[in-house]
Amino acid sequence: MQQFVRHFIIPLARKRGWKSFCEIGASTGLSTDELLKLPITSYTIIDPCFDADLSLKYAGDARVTVQKSNSLDALPNLAGTYDCILIDGDHNWYTVINELRLIQQRGLLRPGGMIFFHDVEWPYGRRDLYYQPDTIPTEYRQEYEHKGIVRGRSQLADHGGAARHLCNAVREGGSRNGVLTAVEDFVAEHASEYNFCRVRLQFGLGILQYRRKRLSEDLSFFLLRIKAGMYSLYGPLHRLKKLTLKEFPRDLEYPLRWTAAGRKISSSASRKSGTPRLQTSP
Ligand SMILES: C[S@@+](CC[C@H](N)C(=O)[O-])C[C@H]1O[C@@H](n2cnc3c(N)ncnc32)[C@H](O)[C@@H]1O
Repeated sequence: MQQFVRHFIIPLARKRGWKSFCEIGASTGLSTDELLKLPITSYTIIDPCFDADLSLKYAGDARVTVQKSNSLDALPNLAGTYDCILIDGDHNWYTVINELRLIQQRGLLRPGGMIFFHDVEWPYGRRDLYYQPDTIPTEYRQEYEHKGIVRGRSQLADHGGAARHLCNAVREGGSRNGVLTAVEDFVAEHASEYNFCRVRLQFGLGILQYRRKRLSEDLSFFLLRIKAGMYSLYGPLHRLKKLTLKEFPRDLEYPLRWTAAGRKISSSASRKSGTPRLQTSP
């Protein structure tokens, strides 16, 4: 997630002057620490705090409020409007779609603001994971087991596989299964209200914008969509050409600068624009 925070969320936050954040699922606060370097005024964390005592960690930062709770319990009582919301909590269809419905019903996202989702690709884009299976109504809970996940195989593995210590849905795909399915179902419920795109690299980043239906904003999102598409290609390119990921241009919202990255731009121009040049590693 930190890579996406550095390459997508922080550049967007700087450009748009985002001041208020809400993070659902913060673990030990690695993304939080990165985002708190921004000049923001409020940062709300919602997490049952299984991994760390986040109230203690952020006790000295007056901008931070920690709700030690599950998202579906905390969101109905949240006040305020956020410029940016990060969703990286319980990775299952029921939790994610209801987080989105609550955010929408309670007006927690400012028009024009964005929600970022981690894990919209394999393994949890199309497969539920349950941190606390008992909190999910049985009619929405997939059959699950503590077994590993193998890419390209719907069934869980008897031996090995990824994330075998977690409660993973026994099948991949189908309705009401996975984080990406939840986001897509929510967007379908609100056709024309949101822009959505995703980065298909690593575990995936979903980007959802609450539209103000302004041409300039939609155009800007279109450019973000291109950036997400280019970034998705970067994994395969990295393997093929040994391009270094840290050199990926961060500023694709300005297409002219980015076009220059496809060709060679001079290092002085690169330094001036702050846009690193695509290079092959030595
Ligand atoms: C993958 S970790 C988050 C990693 C973090 N975003 C980062 O960038 O380092 C998932 C977190 O979600 C939290 N979590 C699990 N179920 C949750 C729920 N129902 N509501 C909110 N947070 C939840 C867990 O306690 C854990 O801290």
